[in-house]
Amino acid sequence: MLSGKSILITGAGSGIGATCARVFAANGAKVIVADRDVDSGEGVAAEIRDSGGEARFRHCDVTDEASVAAAVSFATSTYGRLDGAMNNAGIEMRNKPVHELTAQDIEAVLGVDLVGVFYCIKHEFLAMKDAGGGSIVNTASASGVRGQINASDYVAAKHGVVGLTKAAACDGGPLGIRVNAICPGLIMTPMAKDRLMNDPVFSQALEGLRQRHVIGRFGETEEVANAGMFLLSDLASFVTGSPMLVDGGYSV
Ligand SMILES: NC(=O)c1ccc[n+]([C@@H]2O[C@H](COP(=O)([O-])OP(=O)(O)OC[C@H]3O[C@@H](n4cnc5c(N)ncnc54)[C@H](O)[C@@H]3O)[C@@H](O)[C@H]2O)c1
Repeated sequence: MLSGKSILITGAGSGIGATCARVFAANGAKVIVADRDVDSGEGVAAEIRDSGGEARFRHCDVTDEASVAAAVSFATSTYGRLDGAMNNAGIEMRNKPVHELTAQDIEAVLGVDLVGVFYCIKHEFLAMKDAGGGSIVNTASASGVRGQINASDYVAAKHGVVGLTKAAACDGGPLGIRVNAICPGLIMTPMAKDRLMNDPVFSQALEGLRQRHVIGRFGETEEVANAGMFLLSDLASFVTGSPMLVDGGYSV
């Protein structure tokens, strides 16, 4: 489905991003595995190459605009052009009510989850606009379309990503660049099972959270990757500005 397309994926060293890299490569894409964590990112890229796919690792911290610009430039110099990007790097909420968040908490979460996506879109546009276009997918969240207790930092950032997706789609239309978002429900990645589950408030709310996913279970990283693959492919040629729910019905 992505045969020959060059695709940059941020946060591709773990969880949803790592599965996207594996699935996109297995479907013919040449992927850049970008992450701030060198060991995990290099591991994912090596694993893809060992299975016969095409992948390179590039260190990238999405909170640093120069680092993002360098990762995009690495993608175009490695593969000749940038056809697609999945702006997926993210960190979880600080698990506090809004009045307990410090300035550092707010800046940390918005810095990665919203400003990081801004930098990625800006530099991906610069690479794609003179090459005839491309497709960009931002990993938002079901928290990008509804509220959640103890998560105002994350909810604000992810609503921002959904708004940014719509506005960038308007700018991208005349340039042949489609911009969409995916809004996953709870997916048991390291973010969820190793970190959020350590928070007593979050883990106590887990059963209620599961029931709100009307399909009756949490999601799998492959289910997010499949949606990303569709949006990045030519099958989605008339889809732009869409915050696609991949949340088992959580937000309905
Ligand atoms: N897991 C869920 O339930 C869930 C639900 C909805 C949305 N999401 C979103 O999906 C995305 C991926 O989350 P995940 O669950 O796979 O998490 P994860 O923690 O397993 O993976 C996140 C990856 O992003 C990388 N990263 C973090 N900050 C970075 C930075 N500044 N620059 C570059 N890389 C950075 C990490 O090193 C890690 O490899 C995030 O944007 C998250 O908000 C996750």
